[in-house]
Amino acid sequence: MAKDKKVLVIGGGGREHSIVEAFSRSPQVARIYCAPGNAGTALLAENVPLKDTDIEGLEKFAKDNSVDLTVVGPEAALAEGIVDSFRAAGLRIFGHTKAAARIETSKEFAKQVMARYDVPTAAYRTFTDYSQAFEYVSSRPFPAVLKYDGLAAGKGVVIAQDIKEAETALKDMLLDGRFGIGKVVIEDFLTGPEFSFMCFVSGNRIWPMPLAQDHKRAFDGDKGPNTGGMGAYTSLPFISDADQKYALEKIMRKVAEGMVSEGSPLTGVLYGGLMKTSCGIKVIEFNARFGDPETEVVLPLLKSDAYEIFSAVADGKDAAAPQWSSETTMGVVLASKGYPGSYQKGFEILGTENVEGMVFHMGTKRENGSLLTSGGRVLMCVAKGENLAQVRRKVYDDVSRISCTNLYFRKDIAHIAFE
Ligand code: AMP
Ligand code: GLY
Repeated sequence: MAKDKKVLVIGGGGREHSIVEAFSRSPQVARIYCAPGNAGTALLAENVPLKDTDIEGLEKFAKDNSVDLTVVGPEAALAEGIVDSFRAAGLRIFGHTKAAARIETSKEFAKQVMARYDVPTAAYRTFTDYSQAFEYVSSRPFPAVLKYDGLAAGKGVVIAQDIKEAETALKDMLLDGRFGIGKVVIEDFLTGPEFSFMCFVSGNRIWPMPLAQDHKRAFDGDKGPNTGGMGAYTSLPFISDADQKYALEKIMRKVAEGMVSEGSPLTGVLYGGLMKTSCGIKVIEFNARFGDPETEVVLPLLKSDAYEIFSAVADGKDAAAPQWSSETTMGVVLASKGYPGSYQKGFEILGTENVEGMVFHMGTKRENGSLLTSGGRVLMCVAKGENLAQVRRKVYDDVSRISCTNLYFRKDIAHIAFE
């Protein structure tokens, strides 16, 4: 097999660093570009100073540099139709079309697909009118879940504990147009442990990845504000083989097949944000892309050639099922103090070269030879090993090897496994 393929990875976070890392292990890939990338991707790829939504610029770059395959990390580019543009220009790209990405970008569309193909999720209604929404929520038990329909940078979901909170959120979403003019999905509140199930999907074909659990709250004990995710691990102790099979067959496959019937086949990653409730596994949300930080603990377990599986998905073709290591991984995010609120940037980071496991860069840059913080989530240490107790020791040893005056991290990743 010739080692002559060129890959362009779009995005600049930890997710993209781990996608780049997976391609760096491919026997076919000779050169990796990352746009815009970060100081971590620069170690394995050539960073390209283009924004992830600069579709025209990215398309020109892919053409001019004879890129064989482009991989889209963030949802914003998908929502703007980067896949449609690349395909129209005859370029190979991994990611969903704008129409297929509605499974993430429109909560109402996702709910309709789930209803049509019998996929278990919370009961819901959709509203555009403030008074009707207020009347409905007043008639339902609390807490109530209010979801703004559209991409709202993770801030579009409000769990209202009482009618006062519901009123404020509905006013924000339907009267004040805080996120733009849109709809609100009001759904029942479910309880149980959440987990992330990512699958490669190519039309009707589906290849599951190992399950992961994210930790969305900023502080130990799942306290504090919601973040993009403060850590993740694989080998979930609360999910049985039967649960996993159910989630694959009754949720993920049904949606993949449903999207084909809808005329919008998936050609990328389908991310199921699932919950194990007392009445079975249910969908909380779908994303049309790799999760971050889940990808950083999942892709290091990929034993097969990344170029093979990403190509099959991009081309809508069949492929051998990718092979996964049976090891366990755990990752701890180091975030800027203040994140997810306001925070300062530009603090020097020392010690990443002493880490024994892996370290993915989420928000870093290099200036005059120094590694500096440049985002909310900055680094993620990931360890691989035989079991959770072992990887927990390893990953926190690695975290202690990194020094920076402006970073904090959670000390209880995977706590559910140790309770
Ligand atoms: P989303 O942006 O849809 O991922 O929602 C953000 C978070 O809100 C989820 O990760 C859940 O923790 C929570 N959430 C969303 N929908 C529900 C629901 N129906 N019941 C309970 N929690 C929910
Ligand atoms: N970790 C959650 C997400 O990527 O949306």
